[in-house]
Amino acid sequence: MARILPISDPKTLDAALSALQSGEAVAVPTETVYGLAADATNPAAITRIYEAKGRPRFNPLISHMADLEMARAHVLFSPLAEKLAAAFWPGALTLVLPLNPEGDIHDLATAGLTTAAVRVPEGYARTLIAAFGRPLAAPSANLSGRISPTSAQHVADDLGDRIGLILDNGACRIGVESTIVAVNDEQLTLLRPGGVAVEDIEAVAGVSVGRRAPGQHGAVMAPGMLASHYAPQSTVRLNVQMAEPDESVIRFGGQALANEEQAHAVMDLSPAGDLREAAANLFSLLKRADKAGGRGIAIAPVPTHGLGEAINDRLARAAAPRD
Ligand code: TXA
Ligand code: MG
Repeated sequence: MARILPISDPKTLDAALSALQSGEAVAVPTETVYGLAADATNPAAITRIYEAKGRPRFNPLISHMADLEMARAHVLFSPLAEKLAAAFWPGALTLVLPLNPEGDIHDLATAGLTTAAVRVPEGYARTLIAAFGRPLAAPSANLSGRISPTSAQHVADDLGDRIGLILDNGACRIGVESTIVAVNDEQLTLLRPGGVAVEDIEAVAGVSVGRRAPGQHGAVMAPGMLASHYAPQSTVRLNVQMAEPDESVIRFGGQALANEEQAHAVMDLSPAGDLREAAANLFSLLKRADKAGGRGIAIAPVPTHGLGEAINDRLARAAAPRD
């Protein structure tokens, strides 16, 4: 079983650094979700990530940087990319940028593309990367296709017997993955809604963020673009007004569903109707509802503005038909 070490223990940093130096994958808390991190320049280390997650190898990974200077060594910034990095890093915005020919993010982390996804995370993850001195490739620390982890225990539930070390910093502040934007010179395309609202990116950029037509795939099949992702075991119904008997209900904003008294369990993403709080609670409530073992999960409508876009995106994938 993986060791779970609290980040408050000063010995944790050394344990993490020595595991990373020997090419292991380590679960690391970030402000969005827990990541499964490994040296982005070391092919054997990156392979450990794919193996532990059971993730298809054609899905490229985000390379996490300590700061803009480290990022510049690996990818090329247009003026617009500079502006976004200055406004949102450290933070939950991932930029897809052209590779710097001088950089050494390994092909296994970029899936052989000529671009790389990069972000500077907040807090402990950033401290760890700075101490390590090289970028860390890190997808979410869950089995491929499952709900992303927002606590060390979530990571242990999925990967506890597949990895050696989990760093524990309690619940993630944001709770959904980063927003991913591709920057082509002065044009922006949304690849995945996430922890930074698109409205906030547009306000800084001064241009609108383009969206892909539904069902249109670029060169990359992002896991976030696979129809079924974040899949609970239970069936999931969305935009529900009336609960069926014995369903587990997830509501929003303290609004009761019709028929709720016959539900198996009732939880609320944010009784106060706060989308940030709802994002932070989303994955842990989905897991709780899944474990509650009712007849399925019924989810009330969630507003679509701000972080609601990311929440609705994840809910749609949780409800998508499975193979
Ligand atoms: O919040 C997050 O983003 C978390 C934490 C750990 O940082 N990480 C995360 O990584 O969600 P992951 O691997 O689950 O999602 C990375 C996404 C994938 O959908 C992948 O296809 C896309 O980024 N991606 C990576 N490189 C890309 C590239 N060069 N072009 C387009 N998409 C890319
Ligand atoms: Mg993921």
